Amino acid sequence: MHFQLTEEHLMIQQAARDFARAELLSGVIERDDHQKFPADAVRKMGELGFMGMMVSPEYQGSGMDTISYVLAMEEISKIDASASVAMSVNNSLVCWGLEKFGTPEQKEKYLKPLASGQIIGAFCLSEPEAGSDATSQKTTAVDMGDHYLLNGTKNWITNGNSASVYLVIAQTDVAKGHRGINALIVEKGMPGFMVGKKEDKMGIRGSDTHSLMFTDVKVPKENRIGEDGFGFKFAMKTLSGGRIGIAAQALGIASGALELASKYATERKSFGKPIGEHQGVAFKLADMATKVEAARLLVLKSAWLKDQGMPFDKESAMAKLYASEVAMEVTTEAVQIHGGYGFVKEYHVERLMRDAKITQIYEGTSEIQRIVISRAVLNEAAGI
Ligand code: CAA
Repeated sequence: MHFQLTEEHLMIQQAARDFARAELLSGVIERDDHQKFPADAVRKMGELGFMGMMVSPEYQGSGMDTISYVLAMEEISKIDASASVAMSVNNSLVCWGLEKFGTPEQKEKYLKPLASGQIIGAFCLSEPEAGSDATSQKTTAVDMGDHYLLNGTKNWITNGNSASVYLVIAQTDVAKGHRGINALIVEKGMPGFMVGKKEDKMGIRGSDTHSLMFTDVKVPKENRIGEDGFGFKFAMKTLSGGRIGIAAQALGIASGALELASKYATERKSFGKPIGEHQGVAFKLADMATKVEAARLLVLKSAWLKDQGMPFDKESAMAKLYASEVAMEVTTEAVQIHGGYGFVKEYHVERLMRDAKITQIYEGTSEIQRIVISRAVLNEAAGI
């Protein structure tokens, strides 16, 4: 076992750090205020290879490993978690699923432009009544022979308006339960597909979150991913990897807040010395740094397992659970260390604290991660 990143990993980490500081930092407060999607920066992220990091060069991806991806996610999330969620969904939920389970034609038509960042994608599972309980899909995809007729509503869809390609999970045969669900590739502009209301959110306000409406949308059969009835397993497998990306996002939000709080603690003076020399602040920083490092190890471990082709469902859920809880704790303490300045927008930490909250909710709430982890632990105990 060795805990050393390779030269290549360090270069990618530095490139993502430089990009985030040069292209995302300026304007991040305004974008948050005005709920403005960082479209130009996301386009540049595509040009630099950040939107299809793990996709093979054969499909215009960067051909990197998951470790590289989480290192880049952490750096970008330190500065702008709205940009990093667009990156995470495109990489983990859309490109990965298409590369792993798509047909050669689907890869040619959809994966190539998605992986090269010419367009971005969205993953559409959540519904008004099916967020955590993902088998209870009300959106229907009725089999009409050569196409599916898609009807229903999806909620809280990341990249909802800025995407061009949508992976939509829908129920084809309710009697078959989760085995009656399909995953379909839907293009923006297909008749009957409408982008609905934009959500006015607490955090990641620069991210483009919408509801989507499908009314008698004709989706060709060749746009189904995998065999008939594979949609639920497709979603679960995809989300399992996606949780590594969101764990890295949570880690970035936490480590960004830690960097800001540590710097502030060396600059701000009270009672005649920098506040970091007061034990009340120093001990907080020690706890924050320890939690961030523990979260980083879980994130890297789950990424490494995925790269080795080993099972990682339990570990990705652990990384997502722990890193998101650390993000909430560390950002809250960072605001506390900043005092009154932490409560106003120009110091960034209040935004990081608001952004942290969603990492405990999307791609499976903390409660869902605990279900996944406890089931794995109990199965191991039972020798299953
Ligand atoms: N990989 C492969 N197969 C899996 C799997 C996985 N990780 N997890 C479950 N399955 C399979 C099971 O083996 C089972 O198949 P069989 O019947 O053939 O054995 C089938 O799927 C059903 O599994 P469960 O009985 O475990 O299903 P469940 O109803 O108990 O649900 C759950 C399990 C973990 C709670 C699941 O519903 C879940 O993960 N819910 C959360 C969904 C979620 O993350 N939503 C977020 C939306 S996307 C998003 O947030 C994107 C964004 O905007 C950023």
